[in-house]
Amino acid sequence: GYYRRGGRTPLYLFELSQCLLDFVVQLLPSKEEVSVKEDVRKLLERLIKTIEPSAQLLSFGSTANGFELKNSDMDLCCLLDLRTDPLPSASQFVLRAAQLLEKETKFAVKPLPNARIPIIKLSLQPSPSIPFGIACDIGYENRLALENTRLLFTYAAIDPTRVRTLVLFLKLWSKRRKINSPYHGTLSSYGYVLLIIFFLVHVKDPPVLPNLQQMPPMRPISPSDTQINGRNVWFFDDVDLLRRKWQSPNTDTIGELLLDFFRYYSREFNYTTTVASIRAGHLPKELDPTKPIDPREGTSLWIEDPFETSFNVGRCVTRDGLYTIRGEFMRAMRILTTKHETAMASLASLCE
Ligand code: GTP
Ligand code: MG
Repeated sequence: GYYRRGGRTPLYLFELSQCLLDFVVQLLPSKEEVSVKEDVRKLLERLIKTIEPSAQLLSFGSTANGFELKNSDMDLCCLLDLRTDPLPSASQFVLRAAQLLEKETKFAVKPLPNARIPIIKLSLQPSPSIPFGIACDIGYENRLALENTRLLFTYAAIDPTRVRTLVLFLKLWSKRRKINSPYHGTLSSYGYVLLIIFFLVHVKDPPVLPNLQQMPPMRPISPSDTQINGRNVWFFDDVDLLRRKWQSPNTDTIGELLLDFFRYYSREFNYTTTVASIRAGHLPKELDPTKPIDPREGTSLWIEDPFETSFNVGRCVTRDGLYTIRGEFMRAMRILTTKHETAMASLASLCE
């Protein structure tokens, strides 16, 4: 009866959870990799300070949110003292800093001053000391990205074993299955992480995680302290207190959560009518009946950004891309619920 009830026997799920933990440990960056990246950040910061003395270069994305895989890219954001006069525009900054880095470093430098969010792309070829090379994007004044990174970091810190294991596994899986590429019509890592948190906060009953944006604050907050670019970025961020006080009533194992995640997004989530919002739960898509329906609208994936609430993090996902992603969710369900020699063999075949 090991695979009875679609692979959901307690023994199988226990073994799957153990395997997920072992699997994920191998995906983490080494201490050396982490320290090389930090050295690179410091070096770049020191150079940029020579043109803008108030500049700070801060990490965001996976190097700062607790969801870093081996050899992942670095996302850096340059902040200036806002009293700097004159404050350079994003494209001015990108061009000037790129010129400097071109001259002073061995990185290949590519400025993208006219992108929606202007950035500098840096890359370093692999060498004996940096076996996988380095890829790094530097953005400018992207304060909302720093805040959403901190939000994800806080969610990861509440229940690190379950949240980080699920996220790291699903990130690797989505990359191996080639469905982690906004440029090719599928979803960014950031989008997958939001889908996982949405599932843990709003779908699982009882929830695995609290809704940090709706918890009552410990002391009165003034709106002016929690606004960035006109967005309310407040969330409950006292990690120590959360760790001591938040005890999830949900005791599902990682294996159960993974299976449920795949089942929910392959069969249950209503992509046509629903917006997934970690801030507010299941929201209806508001299609304007007076406008002709965009052929992609209503069929595509809508994931609300936690702070930029009018922004769809799934906007790059095409109709074909969503079809492929849902096909992958179904494939994953099938693999996890059919017979393999061991749970480790299931995971390996899942990520083939
Ligand atoms: P890997 O690079 O795949 O390891 O994952 P990652 O965690 O760095 O995620 P990703 O590169 O997709 O995104 C990095 C950061 O950029 C996120 O943490 C967000 O802060 C920001 N970001 C990425 N995509 C979006 C988006 O569509 N909207 C907004 N507001 N921010 C985004
Ligand atoms: Mg990244």
